[in-house]
Amino acid sequence: MKKIYFGTNLKMYKNIQQTVDYLKTLVTETVKLDRKEYELFVIPSYTALSSAAESISQKQVILGAQNMAWEEEGQFTGEISPKMLEEIGIKLVMIGHSERRHIFHETDDEENKKVICGIKNEFVVLLCIGETDKDKMDGVSNEVLRSQLIRGLKGVKKEDARKIWIAYEPVWAIGVNGKPATEEYANSKHKVIRECLLEIFGKEGEDVPILYGGSVNPQNANSLIIQPYIDGLFVGRSAWNAKKFAQLIFSSIDKLEDFHSVNDESR
Ligand code: PGA
Repeated sequence: MKKIYFGTNLKMYKNIQQTVDYLKTLVTETVKLDRKEYELFVIPSYTALSSAAESISQKQVILGAQNMAWEEEGQFTGEISPKMLEEIGIKLVMIGHSERRHIFHETDDEENKKVICGIKNEFVVLLCIGETDKDKMDGVSNEVLRSQLIRGLKGVKKEDARKIWIAYEPVWAIGVNGKPATEEYANSKHKVIRECLLEIFGKEGEDVPILYGGSVNPQNANSLIIQPYIDGLFVGRSAWNAKKFAQLIFSSIDKLEDFHSVNDESR
């Protein structure tokens, strides 16, 4: 069975102590989760990363950074270098979250420079993509997703595809005013993304995980996770209480295992 991913971005929430407490609770609550089959990751704020890395083992929960500079050092006031993240043991970097693109006006070309820099520095790079409401209304969602992938992954070699994860997060689905995508819609966009990854990387594109994010909650997680093109869930608000996140994870896994046992029997 393919590996399934569950992760959260803590955005600009939780101070150092809250992050450490959150992580410790998440580790305790998910102790019985088989990490060979399921990958967990959490992306705290920069100031909490160092203490977070000291507080838990990343064999249990991989820690990620919310952004990263595309240079290793230099005159880039306010930026964080990949070397600085490496120094504190960070393994994953998220690039191009919708809030970076839409509030801070980051472009595909900038995301691409960060992706290339992340790969060069041996990070797992979680590239976030997603269409806006207007793109959807104009009927250009697939083209937008393809273009974000083609531009964002430009210059990434086939052999580095294993270092890429994709989060599909429709902009209209994210946050307090977001409306979650239906499972059919999300699955159809994941299919578009998978096909594009195969075009870019050849067969190596088959193993790049594609996670769905945008108002994932306990009501829709179970139906999203059983979709054939969805490899995991990238959760915001519904994951920020560690016990509730663990419940969402175990409930999704139960559903997925039931789904597979019924499908395998009917073959
Ligand atoms: P949300 O956030 O689940 O709160 O909509 C998702 C995200 O921004 O990644």
